[in-house]
Amino acid sequence: MNMTELPTLHERFPPHFVWGVATSSFQIEGAPEQDGKGLSIWDQFCRVPGAIADASNGDVACAHYSRWQEDLDLIASLGVDAYRFSIAWPRVRPGGSGAWNEKGLDFYERLVDGMLARGVKPYVTLNHWDLPLELQATGGWANRDTVPLFVEYARKVATRLGDRVPSITTHNEPWVMSVLGHESGVFAPGLKNRAMAMQVAHHLLLSHGLSLQALRADGCQADLGIVLNLSPMSAATDSAADQAKKVLEDGRLVRWYMDPLFKSAYPEDVLAYLGQDAPQVQAGDMQAIATPLDFLGINYYTRSVVSADDSWKSSQSGLPLTDMGWEIYPEGLTELLLRVHQDYELPVIFVTENGGAFPDVLDNGQVHDAARTEYIAKHIEAIAQAMDQGVPLGGYMVWSLLDNFEWASGYEKRFGIVHVDFASQQRTPKDSALWYQDYLRCVHAHRASLAQATTGA
Ligand code: FCB
Repeated sequence: MNMTELPTLHERFPPHFVWGVATSSFQIEGAPEQDGKGLSIWDQFCRVPGAIADASNGDVACAHYSRWQEDLDLIASLGVDAYRFSIAWPRVRPGGSGAWNEKGLDFYERLVDGMLARGVKPYVTLNHWDLPLELQATGGWANRDTVPLFVEYARKVATRLGDRVPSITTHNEPWVMSVLGHESGVFAPGLKNRAMAMQVAHHLLLSHGLSLQALRADGCQADLGIVLNLSPMSAATDSAADQAKKVLEDGRLVRWYMDPLFKSAYPEDVLAYLGQDAPQVQAGDMQAIATPLDFLGINYYTRSVVSADDSWKSSQSGLPLTDMGWEIYPEGLTELLLRVHQDYELPVIFVTENGGAFPDVLDNGQVHDAARTEYIAKHIEAIAQAMDQGVPLGGYMVWSLLDNFEWASGYEKRFGIVHVDFASQQRTPKDSALWYQDYLRCVHAHRASLAQATTGA
């Protein structure tokens, strides 16, 4: 796809709309023990036989810890406004409590200053899943004592960077850490205990709310928010069993997070379903969780289709799939945005992740990933449609800048708009990166013409 097919897409967005790319610390940095860094739960999980599809780990990943300047040059060359990245908690405080690691803090200061020097806005995420391993020994996120430690970590980072970053996210996708980490056990720390998973979700939300309060009390000027993975939920059939499953799964994925954040209560139907597995909540917790947000981040990849029949597979729907086996369904993003806008009083929304894994082929220094370009363009179009219908949207970030360590899928699934040869660490912009660059040139030209029109008027 080239811009001539969607010639005016960029003109549908206001000039202050933020365009970006995203990554996360564990997926790109490598250097798990360099310069005093402590290990995270993902370092350990990668050592569990069978946990990672290609038996790989994050020891090298994209070697971003040493190649960060080259990566920032690449980001700047795309013409994005912002770069969403995460800080590895065990890099700045190796054990999660106790001594701070100055070298780790320095790294992120250099990174932030490097972005600012290149005219790229740093969008910081504090927790993209790499909990310090030492904290897991005392129960990790299932232990309420982790909550104040996260608040300390948030305050430390905000003290060091808060004057220079426009946006701080507490957690990335609490549903994933809770359910995939502690109920199905397919992600770190690999536990299978539903009651624990729900307690983890509660502690994540609580630590989020308390961090917002602490950072604001400290005078932090950055916009503060949280990032959720949300999908519209569909039932495979009209059967009563499938319809009931749809309501429950929507409760567990969407309302379990949105209701406490924006209505200060967990959804009654999910609490009833959980019974004894419902989390322990102390007086004041729900008020803390509902501390007003400056923005809500939403990561969107696909819709969720559920069935009461466990053998049913979403690939049966006939929609095209990405390399993850996820349906390509851009309309779902419009649906989702309209629905949350209708059901909740929301601040500005950022689509903080969106992108696709496709089986790329590097051919003579080029990757012709037309399917990824089309995926991205269609989702941008889906956002424009939601905006046209009144949803307040502030930005869009492509997942991901680079091919990287895709969690339990290892290096087999490539989400980057820039190809990474993991043997040589060579970066090669794919056609999708060149398309995004071209698109962003149009964005900048449009902004300039609007500015000129205003000045001229
Ligand atoms: C999201 C994660 C991100 C990446 C994408 C594909 O759930 O936040 O790290 O793995 O999925």
